[in-house]
Amino acid sequence: MSLDQILAVLPPGSGEEALARQIDFDRLPAHVAVIMDGNGRWAAQRHLPRVEGHRAGIESVREVVEGSARLGIRVLTLYAFSVENWKRPATEVSTLMMLLKRYLRSELNTLLRNDIRFRVIGRTEDLAADIQGELSDAAAKTASNAGMQFNIALNYGGRAEIVEAAKRIVAEGLPADALDEQRFSEFLYTAGQPDPDLLIRTSGEMRVSNFLLWQIAYAEIWVTDTLWPDFRKRHLIEAILAYQKRDRRYGGINHPAVAGR
Ligand code: FPP
Repeated sequence: MSLDQILAVLPPGSGEEALARQIDFDRLPAHVAVIMDGNGRWAAQRHLPRVEGHRAGIESVREVVEGSARLGIRVLTLYAFSVENWKRPATEVSTLMMLLKRYLRSELNTLLRNDIRFRVIGRTEDLAADIQGELSDAAAKTASNAGMQFNIALNYGGRAEIVEAAKRIVAEGLPADALDEQRFSEFLYTAGQPDPDLLIRTSGEMRVSNFLLWQIAYAEIWVTDTLWPDFRKRHLIEAILAYQKRDRRYGGINHPAVAGR
């Protein structure tokens, strides 16, 4: 995707356009992961039931999915429902599942039009049969798309994912000396995908909340006070610009004065 193609979908003269012009397209994060937080607070501020925050959050999901695909992000992972979220009231859980189902149905054409490949990561086997059907249908219909990989983390937990990987390694009888970090990562849900370079969290909380624990080892974390339902393309661009200003050292030394010594 060229800058011109991106600018064509942003309102001319808008703040978004000015921000997009600052992006260095040769140094985009390959994988952006997002902890979508603050839906409940957004609703409470408006004296609405919590589920209205989730409903409003769908528009932000649309913006970020389409925006990321157009910018040329290779992988986008959104944290929609954690293994801990079952503790929420049953009506909230069922509304979240209903919204997800509705989102997949209404957005399938957008995913296809934007060449986006969809899949879900998490313990899908515990989800209701109709949700599982909807998820596998969307994954199958977008499987041959070659553009952005869009993962929704659903009934996902980072520790559970690591334990699951370890169990599969044992079940396959992999000898201990054949195991290293690369081989281990091939047993995770994200096998074959680059690790997140950028982790975005909305609503100001400084936590990683059991999200992609293995994969975010070297991710740059960007936290915004913006609540998820207010998150728009321009916030995504702001996060990418902040990421491009970071000095990524991966535990080494990257200072020009000492590099190469
Ligand atoms: C966190 O806000 C948000 C969630 C637990 C769910 C996010 C889900 C959506 C945006 C809708 C469905 C998703 C997709 C991908 C279509 P919170 O309820 O914890 O907010 P709070 O911390 O302010 O209470």
